[in-house]
Amino acid sequence: MRLAVIGHPIAHSLSPMLHSAWLEAAGLFGCYTALDVEPGRLDTVIRRLRDGELDGLNVTIPHKEAIIPYLDRLEESASRAGAVNTVYRIGNELIGANTDGTGFVKSLERTGHVSKDILIIGAGGAARGIISALKTKVTVANRTYEHALRLAAEFDCEALPLDAVDLKSFDTIINTTPVGMSPNTLQSPLVLDGATALVCDIIYRPTPTLLLKEAARLGLPTLDGVGMFVGQAAEAFTRFTGNTPDFAYGEQVIRKQLEEQ
Ligand code: ATR
Repeated sequence: MRLAVIGHPIAHSLSPMLHSAWLEAAGLFGCYTALDVEPGRLDTVIRRLRDGELDGLNVTIPHKEAIIPYLDRLEESASRAGAVNTVYRIGNELIGANTDGTGFVKSLERTGHVSKDILIIGAGGAARGIISALKTKVTVANRTYEHALRLAAEFDCEALPLDAVDLKSFDTIINTTPVGMSPNTLQSPLVLDGATALVCDIIYRPTPTLLLKEAARLGLPTLDGVGMFVGQAAEAFTRFTGNTPDFAYGEQVIRKQLEEQ
């Protein structure tokens, strides 16, 4: 297996460490590297996939949408999300998948929490991926109301301006905005007044974020972004190798690395 993650920048990606650990644990011979691919330079990496020099890819910013025209087929996960984070080959076909949303849902399911009314904060690409993977009733709240309305129309859910949300109405709150991400660790996307929900953040640098620290201070259950990261990687690993990797081991590898950074 010759695998890689492509992005720009890509130096701080945790994917090589995680996939390498799983390859080794599965006794599979292979390597997983990080390739810095500048915008507009996807042709070279696609040629390497078609030539069999590479067997699979993870795809991150800024290529998740740009890679679509180069592929032969999209899984429904990718066509619904409008973005690809995983490319694998079956025969001569290059197939695009999006495991970000299903990865998040997997990590949510692992908490055992039953979600009936979910509030999504943010209406960008990350929100789109998660909404497209969720089967539950969803409300999208966003700083720019029009962006929430656009997603709501597409996925048949509710939309609210961010400052009009009544947190009491929700059993699960998911932050999909970059607010609170390193280096802006002193910011939070919302004040948790009245919340009784499980509070989730897809950010894992840092973990916990200010939002999750505040939730914990209020005695609310929390879910950080490590689970989603491991979840999306696990589903990609299965596409590449046919193996189901050990989720808990993957989470342990990533948490240890984040602590050391
Ligand atoms: P991604 O595609 O990775 O999800 P994005 O497209 O930049 O990232 O989307 C970021 C989301 O976070 C957007 O919904 C954005 O709100 P706007 O639609 O109003 O731009 C939201 N966001 C970003 N910074 C924010 C901030 N400081 N406060 C509230 N929302 C913010």
